Amino acid sequence: MIHIAVLPGDGIGPEVTREAVACLDLLSAERGLGLRFTEHDFGGVAIDRHGEPLPPSTLAACKKADAILLGAVGGDRWNGCAERPEAGLLKIRQELGLYANLRPVEVLQGGQWSPLRSEVASGSDILVVRELTGGIYYGEHRLGEDQASDLCTYTREQIERVAHVAFRAARSRKGKVTQVDKANVLATSRLWRSTVDEIAKAYPDVALDHLYVDACAMAVITEPRRFDVILTENLFGDILSDLLSVIGGSIGLLGSASLGSGGPGLFEPIHGSAPQIGGLDIANPSGAIASAAMMLDELSLGDAGAVLREALEATLLSGCRTPDLGGDASTSGFGAAVRDRLEVRSRRDSGLRH
Ligand code: NAD
Ligand code: IPM
Ligand code: MN
Repeated sequence: MIHIAVLPGDGIGPEVTREAVACLDLLSAERGLGLRFTEHDFGGVAIDRHGEPLPPSTLAACKKADAILLGAVGGDRWNGCAERPEAGLLKIRQELGLYANLRPVEVLQGGQWSPLRSEVASGSDILVVRELTGGIYYGEHRLGEDQASDLCTYTREQIERVAHVAFRAARSRKGKVTQVDKANVLATSRLWRSTVDEIAKAYPDVALDHLYVDACAMAVITEPRRFDVILTENLFGDILSDLLSVIGGSIGLLGSASLGSGGPGLFEPIHGSAPQIGGLDIANPSGAIASAAMMLDELSLGDAGAVLREALEATLLSGCRTPDLGGDASTSGFGAAVRDRLEVRSRRDSGLRH
């Protein structure tokens, strides 16, 4: 039995997560994967029900699980709360030691949904490795009447461990790491550069270059194909990954894996709770489904992750698309179309076996 803790969260979180879980459930039944799901309150909904975004019962269930599937959290409704829904997200990442956030951006076929010209976008295949439990997110935050400050700190060890993740990933891709920082201004960025240079010596087969984050923001849009793995700190990774989602055509397409050292991984789309479209059944569940596929890969369940990814891509390419990609499919209709493809594949595979 493989236990998946599901945290649907707020806004479109429950809608997109429902489709991902239904896909996983179907795959599990067809292939005897033994996935079992339990659902837990997290984010704004947990503030409403328990008075805090990450209740102890939710954290305990996540720690015991084999993997965690998360929707999204947040909404203006909780702005005045002592602890906002987003604080729960930072806490769970820290509690589970999830220091590496992997955010793949791949442009399907001709890149026809990108606002960029297709000759610029097509063929782009980038993996953002974002440091996730350090930097300015976790430094002291002081808010005074006339002055405020947020402290950004990194230790060598925090940089080393996530750098190893990026270099190892590059080995199984195009063999290139671009480390992104603001070393012309920030001390933390200078520590990033020197530390990553040191780590690179252990990976002579991987090419390393460095780029300032402002120049990188331009280059990922003008020449996305030049990138393979982008390694960067927490805040820059957050911003750059939303920017990169434009290359594929919608933030709703992108999934992510947050991994640490040994415990359960957390899998979530990179988008937020999109409150304006919550409950309308029009959100794109692709990012949640892509996250579920990354989870299957991480759980070493054979080709199950690849099969789910193929079904997802085939559905998108068949013309079934949600409004963010110019289509008219609903969230639930799109999820059902992905599951139809999984069923067709399963019938074909069992036909082949007989
Ligand atoms: P957002 O990602 O929720 O939305 C940005 C834009 O993208 C909106 O126009 C939205 O409609 C659209 N969008 C996002 N996901 C989509 C999808 N799956 N399908 C179609 N369109 C989609 O970012 P925001 O508006 O800045 O934030 C809303 C709330 O979500 C905030 O409270 C924020 O803190 C939170 N947030 C949470 C997470 C998370 O839980 N991991 C991530 C980002 C933002
Ligand atoms: C993300 C989100 C979060 C982050 C917020 C909601 C705390 O934007 O997962 O990308 O900044 O990490
Ligand atoms: Mn973000």
